[in-house]
Order: sequence, then structure tokens, then C-alpha cells
Amino acid sequence: MIKAENICKSFNNGTVEVLKNISLEIEEGEFAVILGASGSGKSTFMSILSGLERPDSGKVFYGNEEITSMNDKLLTDFRRREVGFIFQQYYLLPHLSVDKNVRMGADLAENKNYREIIEKVGLADKLKSRPSELSGGEQQRVCIARALAKNPNILFLDEPTGALDEKTGRQVLDYIMQMKKERNFTMIMVTHNANIAEMADKVIKINSGEIEKIYKNTSPKSAYEIGW
Ligand SMILES: Nc1ncnc2c1ncn2[C@@H]1O[C@H](COP(=O)(O)OP(=O)(O)O)[C@@H](O)[C@H]1O
Ligand SMILES: [Mg+2]
Repeated sequence: MIKAENICKSFNNGTVEVLKNISLEIEEGEFAVILGASGSGKSTFMSILSGLERPDSGKVFYGNEEITSMNDKLLTDFRRREVGFIFQQYYLLPHLSVDKNVRMGADLAENKNYREIIEKVGLADKLKSRPSELSGGEQQRVCIARALAKNPNILFLDEPTGALDEKTGRQVLDYIMQMKKERNFTMIMVTHNANIAEMADKVIKINSGEIEKIYKNTSPKSAYEIGW
């Protein structure tokens, strides 16, 4: 279980209060969506939950392990071991091929089967292509493959379809759900899109850095059932 307790975060010497006492729990294997308007603090919260950034106050636990009390080295090891990331902007290395971009993720976990993952996301025939030679959807699939090649226990996604058109966006979400079904990792996705929230097990709605409500979907929808 991932647990956040009373997370507060400000920028600019406390003048910009971005997260105001956020607490929540996410179960193992759960698909949680953090839903909120642009500027509500979603990305900041995701960074803190995943150990990329530290809160001003409050704690984050993974099981019994408190990551907010770890030093930088332990925290880096923790992220390397446990966490995968997929962002709206792809952050692929432009001078490396698809094969090498994914292998970088795989090397972190010494995963020798990373080519299988490239096949799974449908890019087996693009191994030698550079990111600039791929469509937006293909680039995002490279990111999915790179994140999954690490075999993460928790996958964080920040607006993963924000740069994609509807058809590609649905495909990418469907790929992600297939992977989740196979590997059963915990998934935490940030989005401003209420339609996508209908795919989640649990929705955490935030508004101006505060939790507005948390609810569960009784029958989550597929990527092809939601509105767009
Ligand atoms: N490093 C930073 N320095 C100053 N302000 C920041 C920083 N990061 C985020 N903010 C501010 O915090 C607020 C929330 O940002 P963010 O978490 O990115 O929101 P969201 O992801 O929901 O759009 C915004 O007003 C943003 O300008
Ligand atoms: Mg954001």
C-alpha cells in the first residue's frame, strides 16, 4: 500500500502554496487517477508520491517503508528499484534508436527480455528508428516500453495521452491497460480529463492543492468505452 500523510508543498519561499495537507491511500495493484484542473498541483503531488521531489512537510510510505525520511542515495535506489514513469512529453533520447532507448530502461533492472516488451507495444519493426522518425503515438509507446522494461512495481503516468489525438490516445491507454493486466503493477495516473478517470479503480479529485473527493468506480470502463 502507498500512503501519503498530510503532504504540504509551497514554492517561492512559501508564497505559492501548491499542496495543502493531502492524505490518501492507494492499494497494491490498484489503478488510481489523480484528477484535477491544470495548475491544481497534480504533477507536484505525483513527484512527491514517487520520490522525485520532497514535501515541505508530511510523509509518504510504501508499505512500512517511509520514503520521505530516506537520504538522496536511498531514495534514488528506491526509485530505480520500484518505480516507472511515463510523461506527456516523451523524454526519449533523440540520438538513440528505439532499441537503445528501451534498453536503457531495461539495463536499470538487468532485464534481458526487453525486446519482448518492444514487440508487445507493436514496435518490433521500428527497432532501429530514431524518435524523430516515429509518430507521437509510437514515441509514447517507446516510453511505455522503456518504463515497463524496468519491471516497475508502481507505474506513474503524468497526462500520458496529453499530446496524442483521440485514436492514438485510446490505443496507448489500451496498451497500458493490457500491460497492467499482465503484470499487475500499481498504477497512478495524473490527468485533467474526467473521461479517463472513468477507467480507474479509484479517483482522487484535487482542486487548488486540496482533496475535493475520493471515490471508487464500481465498473471501470475500457479505453474504447470512455468519451473523449
Ligand atoms: N518548481 C516550481 N516553482 C514554482 N512554482 C511551481 C513549481 N512547480 C509548480 N509550480 C506551481 O504550482 C502550481 C501547480 O503546478 P502543477 O503541480 O504542475 O499543476 P498541474 O500538474 O495540476 O497542472 C502551479 O501554479 C505552478 O505554477
Ligand atoms: Mg501537470
